[in-house]
Amino acid sequence: MYAIETDNLIKKYKDNIAVNGINLKIKQGELFALLGTNGAGKTTTIKMLSSLILPSLGTIKINGLDIFSNSQTIKQILNVSPQETAIAPNLTVKENLEFMAGVYQIKYKNEKIEELVNVFNLTEMLGQKAKVLSGGWQRKVSIAISLINDPQILFLDEPTLGLDVIARRELWKIIEKLKGKITIVLTTHYMEEAEKLSDRIGIMSKGNLVAVATADELIRQCDAKNFEDAFVKIATGDEL
Ligand SMILES: Nc1ncnc2c1ncn2[C@@H]1O[C@H](COP(=O)(O)OP(=O)(O)OP(=O)(O)O)[C@@H](O)[C@H]1O
Ligand SMILES: [Mg+2]
Repeated sequence: MYAIETDNLIKKYKDNIAVNGINLKIKQGELFALLGTNGAGKTTTIKMLSSLILPSLGTIKINGLDIFSNSQTIKQILNVSPQETAIAPNLTVKENLEFMAGVYQIKYKNEKIEELVNVFNLTEMLGQKAKVLSGGWQRKVSIAISLINDPQILFLDEPTLGLDVIARRELWKIIEKLKGKITIVLTTHYMEEAEKLSDRIGIMSKGNLVAVATADELIRQCDAKNFEDAFVKIATGDEL
C-alpha cells in the first residue's frame, strides 16, 4: 500500500490550470521532494494531498483510503506546515502548541509539547507572542506544531525558507531523524536540501510532473554536471 497515490490529479482556477493531471505514487516512509519554479504548482499539489483544498478532477488515496469518502480519518493521520507560516499571532508559542494539541485531542498533551519544545529549542520563546518572533522562529514554531499529532504523513511546504544557515542545518537534522519513520513530502527551492534529504525528487513545470527519480538518476538522465544543472534543464524543458 502506498502512503500517497494520485490518479490524474487536476486543479483549475477559472482558466488557469495550476495542476495538470498528476500521477504520483509515494511509498510509506519515503521522503519525497517536490521541486519546480515559482508557480509550477507545488503548493497547489501539497494543498490537495493534505486535504486543504479539493481537486477539480482526479483521485487521491492516502494509505489506501480515498480522500472523498474518508476525510475525517485522513485528517488525523497527516499534518502540514504550509508555505505561509500558520500560527496564531496573538497567542504565545506555548498557547499555540496547547491550542493545536487541543484541536487534535492529544492524550499526553504536556509530554508531547515538552518533547517538541526540546526538539526545536523553543524554551526561551514559550512566553512570547508569536507575532513578535522573527520570521525564521515563526517558521520553526509552525513546523513544531505540525508534528503535534505524530502524523504518519507530513507535508512541509518550503520548510527552510527564511531560516539562517544554522537553523536550516538544525531543521535538516530534525527531518533526517524523522526520515524512514514517517512519510514526508517537502517542497524547496534549495537544490542542496532536496539532494541531501530526499529519497526521490519530483520536478513540476507548469502544472505537470515532468520528472520523478533520485537526484543521481536525474543527473545521469540529463548528462548534467550536478543536480542544479539537471534541475534547470528539466524545469525549463531543455532536455524534453
Ligand atoms: N487560490 C488561487 N486562486 C487562483 N490561482 C491560484 C490560487 N493558488 C494558486 N494559483 C495559481 O496556481 C499556479 C500554481 O501556484 P502554486 O502556488 O501551486 O505554485 P508553487 O509551485 O507553489 O510556486 P512557489 O514556488 O512560488 O511557491 C499559479 O499560476 C498560481 O497563480
Ligand atoms: Mg508554493
